[in-house]
Amino acid sequence: MGIVGKVAAAAAIVVCGSVFSLALAGSDDQSDAHADKAQLHKLIADYQRPASIPFPEDNPYSDAKSELGKMLFFDPRLSVSNLISCATCHNPSFAWEDAQPLGSGDKMGQLGRHTPTILNLAWSEVFFWDGRADSLEEQALGPIAAAAEMAQPLDELVDELNAIEGYKTAFEAAFPGEGISEDNIAMAIATFERTVVSNLSAFDRWVRGDGQAISASAQRGFVVFNKKARCANCHSGWNFTDDSFHDIGLASDDPGRSEVLGGDILKHAFKTPGLRNIVERAPYMHDGSLQTLSEVVDHYDNGFVERDSLSEEMQQLGLTGDEKTDLIAFLKTLSSNDDPIDLPVLPN
Ligand code: HEC
Ligand code: HEC
Repeated sequence: MGIVGKVAAAAAIVVCGSVFSLALAGSDDQSDAHADKAQLHKLIADYQRPASIPFPEDNPYSDAKSELGKMLFFDPRLSVSNLISCATCHNPSFAWEDAQPLGSGDKMGQLGRHTPTILNLAWSEVFFWDGRADSLEEQALGPIAAAAEMAQPLDELVDELNAIEGYKTAFEAAFPGEGISEDNIAMAIATFERTVVSNLSAFDRWVRGDGQAISASAQRGFVVFNKKARCANCHSGWNFTDDSFHDIGLASDDPGRSEVLGGDILKHAFKTPGLRNIVERAPYMHDGSLQTLSEVVDHYDNGFVERDSLSEEMQQLGLTGDEKTDLIAFLKTLSSNDDPIDLPVLPN
């Protein structure tokens, strides 16, 4: 977008007085303060929520598909034990992940990585911590068949679902004349997942111009997030991710993205997670090694491992105690306090 476009975008936002009065660090005369306000406007413009959910052309939205996908997502009969559903690990009560450092799958076996959220994945282009899947459709069948997760052979699953009258009807409504197939299972689950979007948070209300929606501390934290702490260099845009891969210097020796690429490039690099509803999503990181947001902030401040693969964006930050408090206050404004979701009635 050219400069004119940017100005127009910023001008379109109604920002009220208390936002204007927030100065960026280090300004002491009037022209600096003026420049700061313009800068803050520009920053805020980057955080507008999109108006609608994108669905791919080869798997467009329908109510029937999404409802079917929701049933499948919550149905433990998708696992060989009939005990584990997608929602066992991606639990809506924990912002669509679980509260353990590492996931547990079939026979309670421990997985190698922490369960990520499925919130706002309609906007993602790469999936899994290491980005080994290119679409939600491609991703969906992985955990069903994976021995460590749901351990369910897919051909048997198609037979099992075919024996359930209610599923035959639901698949017919979603995919008329196509019957039950692995592809249709994946397309239905992916469609449901795209509807899992975090609602308006206090931060969004602030971005839309309600200057009282977040505290003064959180407003200062927003500036720290974007400036001194450099968080927005990777956690960018309304969903707070660049959908890219970085080594942030966690102690874990998981090769991450480099294993998918088959070389030394992007060693220990993982996908940048979005930060929506982040308070509800502890513990943190691909290895679940950080328990609280305070531990996360201390990690970025000066707790990371120095190694060749470390992202150049990772630098000693020298944050003060107040700046850390403000940063955490800001992160807390990203939660949307969604209504409890209606669980589907599973067919027989
Ligand atoms: C046993 C726990 C468990 C179950 C069951 C499970 N998942 Fe996951 N899921 C995980 C873990 C752990 C990861 C991260 C794995 C990795 O990145 O290597 C993951 C990753 C994902 C991702 C990628 C998220 C992202 O940000 O890239 C999606 C989407 C997903 N799962 C959907 C599903 C669906 C759909 C099902 C059911 C068919 C399911 N999961 C079942 C634990 C589970
Ligand atoms: C160099 C890019 C980069 C920068 C800078 C960065 N992050 Fe991250 N962030 C990531 C990546 C990549 C991960 C996942 C790392 C992993 O698990 O190995 C992550 C993970 C997180 C998580 C955990 C999310 C989850 O689902 O577990 C939080 C919270 C977080 N970052 C907050 C911040 C804050 C606050 C800052 C600024 C102080 C910041 N990040 C700076 C890239 C970055």
